[in-house]
Amino acid sequence: MNGISLMVEEHKYIKRMLNVIRKASYSVLQGNPINYDDFADMIDFVRNYADDHHHGKEEKMLFNRMMDEMGGAAQKLVRHGMLVEHDMGRLHMKDLEEALLKVKEGDHEALIDVIANAVAYANLLYRHIDKEDSLVYPFAERELPQVTLDKINEECDAFEKEMEKKNVQKKYIKLLESLEDKYVSLTFL
Ligand SMILES: [Fe+2]
Ligand SMILES: [Fe+2]
Repeated sequence: MNGISLMVEEHKYIKRMLNVIRKASYSVLQGNPINYDDFADMIDFVRNYADDHHHGKEEKMLFNRMMDEMGGAAQKLVRHGMLVEHDMGRLHMKDLEEALLKVKEGDHEALIDVIANAVAYANLLYRHIDKEDSLVYPFAERELPQVTLDKINEECDAFEKEMEKKNVQKKYIKLLESLEDKYVSLTFL
């Protein structure tokens, strides 16, 4: 398995969820009641598929090697760019979760924090993914030694098989498809 190609494929699923998140936020903006279960599913996908499953591979298999083996420019790009953006995404999800709870408890004003954090997360990740696809991954493929790329491929392969046993990939793609059915075809005008 080519680990970096797999990460590019995973970006496509993540971007589809970002679209769902924007549509669900627009529904809230239009004054429709919040579906707390759906937002919990979006947060579940972001935390367990986009973050643990995908960013986990980037951080533990790819970015660590880029920092160790590619020198200053890669270190700067990863440490001050990609890793910071992963952390900002985690913060948006935490703040989104807290805002949802506040709205549920009757704080109507917290609706703006629901929308702000959901949309900010989606916009952050769109840009982050574009940067990885167009700049970071090609840089790694060009500059990492073949032996390191082979090692990444082996590790990704083993990790994916382990996650398949737990049904992780299928579970989250199914969750994405069911939310798309609900939100993406809708217009709230
Ligand atoms: Fe990333
Ligand atoms: Fe990524």
